[in-house]
Amino acid sequence: GQYTVSTRKNVRILLVGDAGVGKTSLILSLVSEEYPEEVPPRAEEITIPANVTPEQVPTSIVDFSSVEQTEETLGLEINKAHVVCIVYSVDDDDSLDRITSHWLPLIRSKCNATLEGDAETEAETEAAGEGLRKPIVLVGNKIDLIDYSTMDSVLAIMEDFPEIESCVECSAKTLHNISEMFYYAQKAVLHPTSPLYIMEDQE
Ligand code: GTP
Ligand code: MG
Repeated sequence: GQYTVSTRKNVRILLVGDAGVGKTSLILSLVSEEYPEEVPPRAEEITIPANVTPEQVPTSIVDFSSVEQTEETLGLEINKAHVVCIVYSVDDDDSLDRITSHWLPLIRSKCNATLEGDAETEAETEAAGEGLRKPIVLVGNKIDLIDYSTMDSVLAIMEDFPEIESCVECSAKTLHNISEMFYYAQKAVLHPTSPLYIMEDQE
């Protein structure tokens, strides 16, 4: 396959996932470095200055709330994002199943709908024709609640969806792997490990 070299000067991260998995808590935990007992439905969009991010790139983090926002808004946000974190709760199998039954197909369909218009460079325009995919990070939150791992299920999903760049289990409550999660999301945009588009004749 072919690789695209990213020269982005900013990174926009969108968090999606079923209600109650902890999207808002993850964002507020990262920002305040402590677990918020009470959270609003949706966190305000925040931009972390370049000098405090691991990759030295200003990074915007965007929450999604199905209560406060429509699916149309979600489509627009998916297209504006450079990487989408699909959050599930490790103690909730339904939220894990919904990654493949709902979220990944939804993100693919929203991207395909606007492929041509969104391309910024010639390489991206060309990639669009070949089926450009939005890089994805799978985030298993609430790891404080269980004493096993969901990684086996997640690795199986990754085999079927090459746009998934990485996966991480974390906890907004104990702050375990919180900064790592956002670092993986940055890295998925700036240093993708797999081609972001699939060549038809790829072996
Ligand atoms: P919606 O806005 O409804 O889509 O939900 P959300 O994904 O933003 O989840 P939210 O952050 O509101 O958290 C839902 C519930 O899970 C809250 O009661 C949180 O306190 C709790 N929660 C969030 N993260 C964790 C975690 O890491 N561990 C535990 N034990 N509970 C958590
Ligand atoms: Mg929320």
